[in-house]
Amino acid sequence: MEITRRKFIKQSSITIIGLGLIGSVFIDASCSDKEKKVSEYDHKNPPSIIVLVGSSRAEGNTDLLVNKMIVIIEKNDLSVEKIYLKDKKILPCKLCNKCREIGRPQCIQDDDFNRIIKKIQLAEAIIMSSPVYWRSVSGVMKLFMERCYSQFDKDWKNSKIKGKHASLVVVSGDNNTEKQCAPIIESFTGFLNWNEISISGSVTASAVEKGEIINNAEALKNAEDEAVKLIDAIRR
Ligand SMILES: Cc1cc2nc3c(=O)[nH]c(=O)nc-3n(C[C@H](O)[C@H](O)[C@H](O)COP(=O)(O)O)c2cc1C
Repeated sequence: MEITRRKFIKQSSITIIGLGLIGSVFIDASCSDKEKKVSEYDHKNPPSIIVLVGSSRAEGNTDLLVNKMIVIIEKNDLSVEKIYLKDKKILPCKLCNKCREIGRPQCIQDDDFNRIIKKIQLAEAIIMSSPVYWRSVSGVMKLFMERCYSQFDKDWKNSKIKGKHASLVVVSGDNNTEKQCAPIIESFTGFLNWNEISISGSVTASAVEKGEIINNAEALKNAEDEAVKLIDAIRR
């Protein structure tokens, strides 16, 4: 009888552990290898800076500029996590206003947005990056910005991500850089102003082919300088 009970307890434990593993795989299925999984997330010590990559190309021009910033940030002993929005499931805002109800729950749409915004809420700064797509931010970046509607109270105040710092990175194909990047900078600025996030500065550059930006020494240096400005803003 005793043996049977022990066997049962042993089998039950295995089943529970098994279910636990299935649970964590399910929660973390959307994370790429480079990202921290939600179950591994250390809420006592979250990354200081979250980098949102709005490009459709990993190791494209936007990504390479952002990488330059990350190297400087890590040299300064700040932790950073890069998130490729292209790999995430982020649905459009439905304007259902459920996020405005008492208790201010998260957006009721259960996709990757809630996981990303939680990380930003815990961070000190964000880097928002996008290539120019038809004189606008990329579609994936736009979806992320839309869903931040859920961060405000009823009076459009007290964003849950207010008080943070931000840097912007924008890459155009056309070499009339400032003209092409201006609408994206404007869009980011409006979004960040609403959320009461201060902008330390921006990096804009032009390149067409994947990775071509690596030959643009000025753009790479600007990215490094912007990283220093962002770090100073955080530490001030
Ligand atoms: C859908 C699409 C639309 C684009 N629209 C513009 C544009 O309006 N102006 C511009 O200068 N470049 C435009 N480009 C070019 C990209 O901004 C350019 O190739 C950039 O280097 C891409 O960045 P990435 O290497 O990070 O992907 C467009 C590219 C795509 C794919």
